Amino acid sequence: MGDPVWYITTPIYYPSEDLHIGHAYTTVAADALARYHRLQGQPVLFVTGTDEHGQKIAKSAEKAGIAPRALVDKIVSRIQDPLWARLGISYDDFIRTTEPRHHKVVQSIFRQLREKGDVYKGVYEGWYCLPDESFWTESKLIDGNCPDCGRPVEKVQQESYFFRMSRYQSQMIDYIESHPDFIQPTSRRNEMLAFLRAGLEDLSISRTGLTWGIPVPDDPEHVIYVWFDALSNYLTAAGYLSDPVKFQRTWPADVHLVGKEIVRFHSIIWPIMLMALELPLPRQVFGHGWVLLGDKKMSKSRGNVVDPLVLIDRYGVDAVRYYLLKEVPFGSDGSYTEDALVLRINVDLANDLGNLLSRTTAMVERFNDGWVPALHSEWDTGIIAGEVARVYREVEKSMDRLQISDALAAIADLIRTANKYIEDQQPWALARSPERRPQLEAVLYNLAEVCRVLSVLLSPFLIDTPTNIRRQLGIDDPVREYKEAVFGGFPEGIRVRRGESLFPRIENKIEEDQWVTLEDFQKIDFRVGTVRHAEIVSGADRLLKLTVFDGERERTIVSGIRQHYQPTDLVGQQVVLVANLKPVKLRGIRSEGMLLAGSVGETLSIVAPVQPLPAGAKVK
Ligand code: MSP
Repeated sequence: MGDPVWYITTPIYYPSEDLHIGHAYTTVAADALARYHRLQGQPVLFVTGTDEHGQKIAKSAEKAGIAPRALVDKIVSRIQDPLWARLGISYDDFIRTTEPRHHKVVQSIFRQLREKGDVYKGVYEGWYCLPDESFWTESKLIDGNCPDCGRPVEKVQQESYFFRMSRYQSQMIDYIESHPDFIQPTSRRNEMLAFLRAGLEDLSISRTGLTWGIPVPDDPEHVIYVWFDALSNYLTAAGYLSDPVKFQRTWPADVHLVGKEIVRFHSIIWPIMLMALELPLPRQVFGHGWVLLGDKKMSKSRGNVVDPLVLIDRYGVDAVRYYLLKEVPFGSDGSYTEDALVLRINVDLANDLGNLLSRTTAMVERFNDGWVPALHSEWDTGIIAGEVARVYREVEKSMDRLQISDALAAIADLIRTANKYIEDQQPWALARSPERRPQLEAVLYNLAEVCRVLSVLLSPFLIDTPTNIRRQLGIDDPVREYKEAVFGGFPEGIRVRRGESLFPRIENKIEEDQWVTLEDFQKIDFRVGTVRHAEIVSGADRLLKLTVFDGERERTIVSGIRQHYQPTDLVGQQVVLVANLKPVKLRGIRSEGMLLAGSVGETLSIVAPVQPLPAGAKVK
């Protein structure tokens, strides 16, 4: 039969308009997971695709004055190429719900459930959220709007087929309770349990008056509700009813990766459909957070979207992938800003990774004629070998838990350790004394080796960089297996080939009139202070009231850092304050100065001297 296939899916996207970085986020994450499992030697099926039926697409087509089929063909082709092609998405199958193979599966599922009595005909009365393609009963609406997205809903009443979900309510609750990993992260699992316990109604799964959809078998006045059609794609792509051998190896899916807003469809409606079909349930539904623009979800219907192709043109595919995967902790929301993207490129990719490689190849050239020394058994591979082994396991552990950002954080640690190793070992000093030649060679080996290991570790996440690293190291073979990231495998007799820097720094263009002169800067009185007392400002959830000793006197400073610091964390802490800021009143309290703090996205840290300094010390 062959080994079981590791099967991962993304949602199938609506091709009503071009996709944006929110969709790219899910797809790049699924791609990284698929590439990782392939490197681990598993057969993988990675499926993405498009959800092409339903009223939303029909309306978009009408607006564009073309047939729905023409609209979806046009957009789908752009999703496949250039979008997924340029983002390096290594899908094995791209499923379109308008394909005959899918049509057949949906109709068969409908028939089977109708024969079983799990699908029946009745009258539907309720509310429909068009942008979400979801039906709601009156009681679920919030302020008369869609409870998921808050947008207005339309009243509908019509003859409809229903899916007898209510029959499976307790079976579904039992299943979620006895399979703790089924819905991840845990917060979503709890939400779903609460939703289920509140009671499950039968689901309307057909509509009349709409022709853009798969007809109900033997009752073509009705078309099948788009979610029922869409969810079934996961079976179609696994070979259900068409390729029994493939299906046997592939089903159930290992991970349905979805945005948090559609976890409900995937972890309640979908598993109940499978229960009714007597098929095994997917092993996991993972609901990741949203990419936000400001504090709003990026979405086509809100019109606040960022086009991934523009970012790729500007910064390259690997920078975009790295940013998406590293910056948004997998499972939580994260805000997109171009500044944060540039910061990640400059810090992690240009400064840390790029410099490590260019310093390594430069030193191998300078101190060993370009030849990477061979590994000697008596050498001390010390900290580098240990750190490689730790990160190797850490990446495995994180990827198994779908914590992609943690895996990249561990890799970033390894890069920093290697750069620090250069500073600590000072190869240029070793090169000056011939008797320290063996140590110099060991250091050069360790550095070339850590770069090689990084080319392996990074290959699920980045497309061009692993090959670029290897080319500069003089290695022509591509990465084949994750196991190659074990320390000590640098091939013998290799000469480095220095090349262009991996990631040129992006310079922030500062306009002339934005420059400040030294005199401007010197006007600001920065001083070290010590926090003597800190308390919460009642009624203000962002503010803390601090008493700071500035070397001469105590002053009160109101600071917007409460979300990041407990008052007790701060007492005794040194800070840098702007001492000559004009006092202001905040919540009735006179604030006499400001603390310096740095922030990126959700993370904020106050600025303090690295070594303690007496309060009052000038900062300049
Ligand atoms: N067609 C349905 C899914 C059917 S699956 C059987 C659908 N399509 S969609 O085009 O609206 O895509 C929604 C998905 O795109 C989200 O679940 C998520 O995976 C991704 N994202 C879209 N916008 C996003 C953000 N702003 N942030 C993160 N992911 C987002 O729903």
